[in-house]
Amino acid sequence: MCGIVGYIGKRDVAPLLLEGLQRLEYRGYDSAGIVITSPKAAGLRMVKAKGRVRDLEARVPKRFAGTTGIAHTRWATHGAPSDDNSHPHLDTEGKVAVVHNGIIDNADDLRAKLTADGVVFASETDTETVVHLIARAQAETLEEKVREALRHVEGTYGLAVMHADFPDRIVVARNGSPVVLGIGEKEMFVASDVAALVSHTRQIVTLDDGEMATLKADDFRTYTTEGSTTSATPTTVEWEAESYDMGGHDTYMHKEISEQADAVDRVLRGRIDDRFSTVHLGGLNLDAREARGVRRIKILGCGTSYHAGLIGAGLIESLARIPADAEPASEFRYRNPVVDPDTLYIAVSQSGETYDVLAAVQELKRKGARVLGVVNVVGSAIAREADGGVYVHAGPEVCVVSTKCFTNTVVAFALLALHLGRIRDLSVSDGKRIIEGLRKLPEQIAEILRTEDRIKEVAEAYAGAQSMMFIGRVRGYPVALEASLKLKEISYIHAEAYPASELKHGPLALIEPALPTVAIVPDDDLLEKNRAALEEIKARSGRILAVAHREQEKADHTLVVPKNEPELDPILMGIPLQLLAYHTALAMGRDIDKPRNLAKSVTVE
Ligand code: G6P
Repeated sequence: MCGIVGYIGKRDVAPLLLEGLQRLEYRGYDSAGIVITSPKAAGLRMVKAKGRVRDLEARVPKRFAGTTGIAHTRWATHGAPSDDNSHPHLDTEGKVAVVHNGIIDNADDLRAKLTADGVVFASETDTETVVHLIARAQAETLEEKVREALRHVEGTYGLAVMHADFPDRIVVARNGSPVVLGIGEKEMFVASDVAALVSHTRQIVTLDDGEMATLKADDFRTYTTEGSTTSATPTTVEWEAESYDMGGHDTYMHKEISEQADAVDRVLRGRIDDRFSTVHLGGLNLDAREARGVRRIKILGCGTSYHAGLIGAGLIESLARIPADAEPASEFRYRNPVVDPDTLYIAVSQSGETYDVLAAVQELKRKGARVLGVVNVVGSAIAREADGGVYVHAGPEVCVVSTKCFTNTVVAFALLALHLGRIRDLSVSDGKRIIEGLRKLPEQIAEILRTEDRIKEVAEAYAGAQSMMFIGRVRGYPVALEASLKLKEISYIHAEAYPASELKHGPLALIEPALPTVAIVPDDDLLEKNRAALEEIKARSGRILAVAHREQEKADHTLVVPKNEPELDPILMGIPLQLLAYHTALAMGRDIDKPRNLAKSVTVE
């Protein structure tokens, strides 16, 4: 999704901003642009290009010096990807420049009014309306001009504004789309994502919705869109700049899959309490009495996070015996759900910025619900909006598709389920059993990762398939859903996930040699039932790849994973399937880190 990066200080701004844009490439985009100035320069200089950041870089003239600038990667919403539609956008006189993330809902009305007033538009974008509104604002200062313009704007934005008459500052504003300030020594940065900042400063200020900021080289201030000053104390980002590098791997996806043993170790660290066979979750903000009063749990998320939520719901039901289910946040908020005071709502999001999830949280809070967050990015919008929650501590995830965050999110749910269970009716011995299981996970994950060569071989055997079926039963079903999502996201092979129990109610009609099935077959109380499903597939000459705790004779191939406690097995069974998707996509020559049409963080509707 779109990315913003800006700088004001003494350094040569263009290389700095281009590097920042490269760090945002992972979010997905189709064009890029940059505008710069300096205290001595007369006016703004802009370069834009459809395509990648390197296409933009190729267009930047040799002499392109400046010390202030804003840059953008665009993900088309209004108007196709093109040079003209790329950001920044300028007003007719070329004095005001704006980069914008989000969507201006009333752009058509604004465009009609501005056109009637004689404004000639240079692009098809919604953003350009904001530029002309700022240029036409009567107010004296740039801050007031932006504020005056925003009064006419409905929709979401994270925006950065430069003005040739005010070369000493960048003005930024946030409503529904992330804006982070980076505080340096006599230099200031702004970005839509800390990834673009951490190689320069770890001191950051995250703007709230309805907040604006003015950045000067040696100073910044924050205030509301109404103009009253807000307090902003910088916080230190824990993530290292190196975490955003590829670290010797060919892709971020591979790097992130490989990091999972350490990542799981991190989510467990400091949380296990052996004395009472429970865990401590410092940020939960839910005391034991409140936790006992919870009658139901509803988990909301999108994409992979929704699938992690489905496994989380299963963990909560089995360990805490609280009825729980998960639903896509995008569906939930449009069906006017009954918001029940005895239900605890949990929003799951890696980025903490997914618009559909954030909007669901805001809707719930408006209706008086208690909402917890299970989030990776500390200080993100959902983390701040929630009443409390659990950080998943996976470290930065750069690849568009989620792997280590998925695994850590599920582990975070196991911790939450254990915590809730132990203040309800989970026994000490079951608590101990789960804790022992959790402690085994990092080594077992490492063991699975060591079998990568074998998984690669198997992936290559299936890479030619047009379509694939994934089946799992009860705990295995969300694993099947996530594995099928992963495969389709990066290999573009059509994949379907079905509960194994539903096979005979329809999808069996599809089974034939050309449609391979990936079956999740844990050694648990449902083993015989799962084996019966394999028989049914084999009887129709279907090829089978099983993920199991021991070789399955009905399967053509088996990926054997180590056994843990049955409740925790889904965590391990998902991991070889991440590598299966990875090696299938690799064998097909796909651009794994940047799958077509997808963005890492979907901050618009
Ligand atoms: C996008 C990404 C998915 C991700 C989903 C939710 O669709 O492409 O990989 O699972 O957003 O993201 P979140 O940051 O909320 O977990």
